[in-house]
Amino acid sequence: MDQKKKPYYITTPIYYPSDNLHIGHTYCTVATDAVKKFKELQGYDVFFTTGTDEHGQKIQEKAREEGMEPKPYVDKIVKEIKELWEKLDIDYDYFVRSTDEDHEKNVQDLFQKLYDKGEIYKGEYEGYYCTPCESFWTEAQLGEGHTCPDCGRETHKQKEESYFFRLSKYRDRLLKLYEDHPDFIEPDFRKKEMINSFLKDGLEDLSVTRSSFDWGVQVPFDPDHVIYVWIDALSCYLTAIGYGKDPEQFEKYWPAQVHFVGKEIMRFHVIIWPALLMALDLPLPKKVFGHGWILFNNDKMSKSKGNVVYPEPLIDRYGIDALKYFLLREFSFGNDGSFETDKFLQRLNSDLANDLGNLVSRTVSMIEKYFGQMPKPGAPGKYSKELEDLALSIADKNEKAMDHFQFSTVLNDIWTLVRRTNKYIDETTPWILAKEEKMEDLGTVLYHLAESLRIISILIYPVMENTSREIRSQLGITGDVHLEDAKKWGLTETGVPVKKGKIIFPRLDVEEEIEALAKAHEDLIAMRKSAHTGKKAEEKEEKLGKGEITLDDFEKLEIKLAKVLSVEDHPNADRLYLLQVKIGDEERTIVSNIKKNYKKEDLEGKKILVLTNLKPHKFRGIESAGMVLAAEDEDGNLSLATTLEELKDGAVIS
Ligand code: MSP
Repeated sequence: MDQKKKPYYITTPIYYPSDNLHIGHTYCTVATDAVKKFKELQGYDVFFTTGTDEHGQKIQEKAREEGMEPKPYVDKIVKEIKELWEKLDIDYDYFVRSTDEDHEKNVQDLFQKLYDKGEIYKGEYEGYYCTPCESFWTEAQLGEGHTCPDCGRETHKQKEESYFFRLSKYRDRLLKLYEDHPDFIEPDFRKKEMINSFLKDGLEDLSVTRSSFDWGVQVPFDPDHVIYVWIDALSCYLTAIGYGKDPEQFEKYWPAQVHFVGKEIMRFHVIIWPALLMALDLPLPKKVFGHGWILFNNDKMSKSKGNVVYPEPLIDRYGIDALKYFLLREFSFGNDGSFETDKFLQRLNSDLANDLGNLVSRTVSMIEKYFGQMPKPGAPGKYSKELEDLALSIADKNEKAMDHFQFSTVLNDIWTLVRRTNKYIDETTPWILAKEEKMEDLGTVLYHLAESLRIISILIYPVMENTSREIRSQLGITGDVHLEDAKKWGLTETGVPVKKGKIIFPRLDVEEEIEALAKAHEDLIAMRKSAHTGKKAEEKEEKLGKGEITLDDFEKLEIKLAKVLSVEDHPNADRLYLLQVKIGDEERTIVSNIKKNYKKEDLEGKKILVLTNLKPHKFRGIESAGMVLAAEDEDGNLSLATTLEELKDGAVIS
């Protein structure tokens, strides 16, 4: 790494591993990637982190629905996410997973540090609990009649032991941070939102552990609790640059220059994150930028509404550069925007095929036809100076707009040059100069076109790397791309071969494409569905007995006869019992979901079969040391398994 270059650390959010990311998810990553490339052109040493936020109750439940353990479940999705970033040519430097061993260790260390400093204390969390969603809500968050804001069902008041972070004491320091560093939150209107919604009326301490599920990083000194997913997720930004492992690299890149995040997770990044860093005595990020959402036809994209726009069909039909250009040109980064297929196609036709595509193909064909190589410019012509001045002014403008991540302005400014250059062709009519054999003037005109395109190729590089390379290759330009070179005129080498290549953006028939895209989306969804059901069917077949196991496999199971001593309701779950059982000399608690099948009195005193060496698992805060065995028929009738003759408890099944 070049030590002289200034370090510049940027991040996307750490994504939940949800399958089939849509274009909204790609928005922030595409933007962050463009920032990386832009800053590199300016000469910075950029480190770009993305990753996945893999713990938490929801993931645990989803994995269970799929009949999988959480880790293999997330592994599968993370692989797909990485493939998508590769398909989009996202040039991240580190992909951090919250399940990485070094990260889990960091989360425990940070938690311990906060606890040792008195920033975390043990208390009781009281809230409104929705049993089906297994979520706590505050009174303010509830729907009418104390209903769950997620599923609309009734909630009940409940208490749970929890550790708390002293967030409340940071309120004034946060307000001061926003005041002293007016650029900390961008765009500015989000700052007002944050202050009015969360800080104005005071801040409450934050519950930072959960004991109702166990798919998370354990509190180092209290194994009944796992650490709140947001502490886990936010600290991924530190792990990625070597916190706890490579102090030199960490010192070099921390604090981050910008965290790019969607508007709905601003609160976590501008309130909780800086407060945690203050508590840990770590420097604060320089900026958090909250971008808007991409909607579809002004509506939120959702699988159930069937209006999700996936990036794959767009990339496959029009290429990565077209998608990136549209996302960053069409929408203003801080605000919401609506994806509409016809708008997308029209912009491709007007900006990419007509403006840029035509400029490249006209310029290259004329140079090839009239000179076969890059011509020498003759004396400046009537329109030369105006074109030069405009071309040389764009890089500065781009730098200013990029200071505030105004991608749309950046691209719009570049396109004023693209259009001006096209106009220059119409003004100078090179085909007439050729006919009249004014070769010196023709050389001037064509050299000006090539120079303007060289500058354009630098300016578009952060968003459209492939197109930039294609233009440079057709014009015979070699060497690395630097922003400084877009501020100089006359760098195009003369005498080099110029050769027409492929058409960079062919013109599209909008009507035809709307149909073809809709079909490509349907096919993609159908393919994903059938891949999923195909896999499910295979798994089911295996479960039904077609997959063979060896005797060794069977011998791994320890199944014993257990006597039910007593049965209680699970305090936190309506559908579960806690069975106290005796197995020989030993007593255990087993959590079981047979409440709907058996009354307590029907179970007490009975002997039942139990899988005793199953890894203990917590169900809603209570650990189950084993699993009761039962048979279920096609109609859903369930019967607990036992032995034909009465034996002593502790008897072993073999
Ligand atoms: N895991 C948290 C982030 C933790 S960061 C320490 C999370 N993950 S997420 O997968 O739900 O969201 C990732 C990003 O995608 C968020 O910034 C979110 O705003 C963004 N988007 C999800 N849908 C979007 C659109 N339709 N449009 C633009 N971005 C949106 O939140």
